[in-house]
Amino acid sequence: MNKYLFLIAFPLFAVYACSSYTSEQKAMLERGSEVYITHCVSCHGTNGDGMQGAYPSLIKPEIAQLHTERAVKLIRDGSGFEGGMKPISLTDQELIEVVNYIQNTWGNRAEFIADISNK
Ligand code: HEC
Repeated sequence: MNKYLFLIAFPLFAVYACSSYTSEQKAMLERGSEVYITHCVSCHGTNGDGMQGAYPSLIKPEIAQLHTERAVKLIRDGSGFEGGMKPISLTDQELIEVVNYIQNTWGNRAEFIADISNK
């Protein structure tokens, strides 16, 4: 009996562990969403899908997996060309919050970052 309980409980736990956030992470995402609404929504949209031909969608695996450094640089320094992103003045904490937000919203998933001092 115990063996069967384990066989059922373990996969359920694994699914739960992957799909849910801790309360700390939820609070982080809530703060990130406020930063996003204030500073990013005008170009990238409420659904993160941007505006075709002008502003890129943020809904894609690269955003979550590869581009933490690129995202931090773009937000902090801008793209450096006309029509690109302009530098946005945020505190390090706000930057961490908004990057975690875009990397963990709209189906994007990534590990949470806590530090950008090396980015
Ligand atoms: C004035 C419009 C504008 C605002 C406001 C803006 N962006 Fe952008 N964003 C752009 C444009 C244009 C690009 C593409 C430029 C480039 O690739 O250099 C871009 C690119 C990006 C990318 C890279 C996308 C990719 O394909 O790798 C990320 C991540 C991003 N923005 C996040 C943000 C976040 C987070 C905020 C708010 C803190 C923000 N942007 C605010 C216009 C904007």
